[in-house]
Amino acid sequence: MTSTITSPDGAPALSRGRDFGVRDRVVVITGAGQGIGREYAREFAAAGAIPVLAEINGAAARNVAAEIEQAGGRSLVVETDVADPASTEAMVERVVAELGRVDALINNAAIFSSLQMRPFDQIPLDEWDAVLRVNVTGAFLCARAVVPHMKAAGWGRIVNIMSGSVPLGIRNYLHYVTSKSALVGMTNSLARELGADGITVNAVQPGGTFTEVPRNTVTPEGKAALIANQCIPREEVPMDLVGLVLFLCTPAAGFITGQTIACDGGLTHH
Ligand SMILES: NC(=O)c1ccc[n+]([C@@H]2O[C@H](COP(=O)([O-])OP(=O)(O)OC[C@H]3O[C@@H](n4cnc5c(N)ncnc54)[C@H](O)[C@@H]3O)[C@@H](O)[C@H]2O)c1
Repeated sequence: MTSTITSPDGAPALSRGRDFGVRDRVVVITGAGQGIGREYAREFAAAGAIPVLAEINGAAARNVAAEIEQAGGRSLVVETDVADPASTEAMVERVVAELGRVDALINNAAIFSSLQMRPFDQIPLDEWDAVLRVNVTGAFLCARAVVPHMKAAGWGRIVNIMSGSVPLGIRNYLHYVTSKSALVGMTNSLARELGADGITVNAVQPGGTFTEVPRNTVTPEGKAALIANQCIPREEVPMDLVGLVLFLCTPAAGFITGQTIACDGGLTHH
């Protein structure tokens, strides 16, 4: 199947009608009901994979599944709260029961676009706890649930979505930046624990990425300043992240592990 959808640079969307070695792979994408996760789901499906939409907002996930089906792809919706161990375990059990395997996990779900920015000492403790619980503990719980199946298969891919806010340091977002920072340590350490089992663990670092979801934390001046700091001076969109995330889930990326890779138009440099 081909499509006329293009990236902002006018190049054909990477995955349309090509499999890149992910055909029939079962890829759990958390938080796939909107924003960047929705794009991962649509593009993995277009590349022949079966995305599992592990999303707390079931209605949103079902809409994405309908989009995928309309485009000729296949997906599975499993309403999931990544912060709840019973929910993540049940999600993976259902995936294995219905699809027989789990090849990759994209830890994308986060409390992010709904957050208010505020000075660190005005962050309510319950909001701090919720951000850490979803953004960090959620990634741990999902990894813990999928890894036994990956170990049994001797193959697996885990991609943790962190953020350019970590190397940059961002004011008024301390819980969010702290949570994304934790994913770097998690990536490095989990990669060491799982390398011998054929499982790679990497982190992807998006820059400021503009989706269909409005964020009142982004002012026109802030957006212009962000873009001016990138080597490639245009806004980042979800499609920009697809190539890297998809590649990390292929057999070709099998010797890349424990890495944090920025995909941000050159906003930051490692
Ligand atoms: N958009 C950006 O500028 C940007 C930049 C850097 C990193 N990121 C990261 O990329 C990822 C996606 O960003 P986005 O802009 O699409 O965010 P978003 O806030 O639009 O989407 C997050 C998704 O996660 C889901 N979710 C929240 N809590 C959940 C839970 N407990 N269980 C399951 N699902 C849950 C939400 O329902 C939503 O669908 C996030 O990890 C974010 O931190 C985004």
